[in-house]
Amino acid sequence: MTETTSAPAAEPAAPTTAAMPAPAPSAAPAPGPAIAPVLGPTGRPLPSFPEPPALVDHGPARVVALCNQKGGVGKTTTTINLGAALAECGRRVLLVDFDPQGALSVGLGIDAHNLDRSVYDLVMGHVGHVEDVLTKTNVPGLDLLPSSIDLSAAEIQLVPEVGREHALQRILRPVLGDYDVVLVDCQPSLGLLTVNALTAAHGLIVPLECEYFALRGVALLQETIEKVRERLNEGLQIDGLLATMYDGRTVHSREVLARLVDAFGDKVFHTVISRTVRFPETTVAGVPIIVHAPNSPGATAYRQLAREVLARWDGG
Ligand SMILES: Nc1ncnc2c1ncn2[C@@H]1O[C@H](COP(=O)(O)OP(=O)(O)O)[C@@H](O)[C@H]1O
Ligand SMILES: [Mg+2]
Repeated sequence: MTETTSAPAAEPAAPTTAAMPAPAPSAAPAPGPAIAPVLGPTGRPLPSFPEPPALVDHGPARVVALCNQKGGVGKTTTTINLGAALAECGRRVLLVDFDPQGALSVGLGIDAHNLDRSVYDLVMGHVGHVEDVLTKTNVPGLDLLPSSIDLSAAEIQLVPEVGREHALQRILRPVLGDYDVVLVDCQPSLGLLTVNALTAAHGLIVPLECEYFALRGVALLQETIEKVRERLNEGLQIDGLLATMYDGRTVHSREVLARLVDAFGDKVFHTVISRTVRFPETTVAGVPIIVHAPNSPGATAYRQLAREVLARWDGG
């Protein structure tokens, strides 16, 4: 736009002497207030998240379940990329593939069909030591407990066991001191495996796709969380809700996000993950987006999420 000192052409000419220069239009498009707060995509002022301090000591880990009984909402993508971003911040991170689909393992380049030992063997007590299943990933500081389709049998085989909801908690206990964060990638259901994850967890992160029906399942998830709190793990906290697959160009995405903030307020992370084809690409590549496309908006978003999450945890 060109700056002009005369009145815009559409404005009626002043009825006074034509010789006088037109007054500067007082209602010209304002350049905007000088110190407006920067609003983030969630409609709230966007705080800046500090660079997390380096750690001198490691552990004990905060266990966080990535949970939503709906599939395809970004649980696995968030587990991989938040994990990699936290590792980049110098945190020691353990990822637990707790979905028999094994997408987390595949996403980290592990052949889930040809595992000698997996989380299933730990859950069923076939293998006593976590170290026997622990796998290093190609990201420094990021380890994995991989899974395969075997794990689907555990859902039934665990039922008659004493302490069946505490299997994952028992598995993780010996290694909590070695890590700063354990992220558990849950399966898309509220069955016994997910209840195990919620029982073992200090907190949970709920990824939600920015589409119309995203909120539908949240009430059911909240009921499960309440039951787990009452019966199994009273300290379980909701660390935050994460909007994923966001497309700021559509009214629809913006509306869903606004409703999410209306319903859950500050529980909604300021960081929002946009929809981009780079995520499916990185799954095929078997590495986190942070490694595959380190300067992409997706990598930047997950780095910001890591800082936001660390700030939340430190703040209580
Ligand atoms: N922000 C995103 N934009 C576009 N595609 C995404 C995004 N996040 C995840 N995906 C893709 O969507 C699919 C489902 O994501 P995934 O993380 O596996 O969900 P879930 O674990 O909840 O089932 C995958 O193909 C993944 O690559
Ligand atoms: Mg998944």
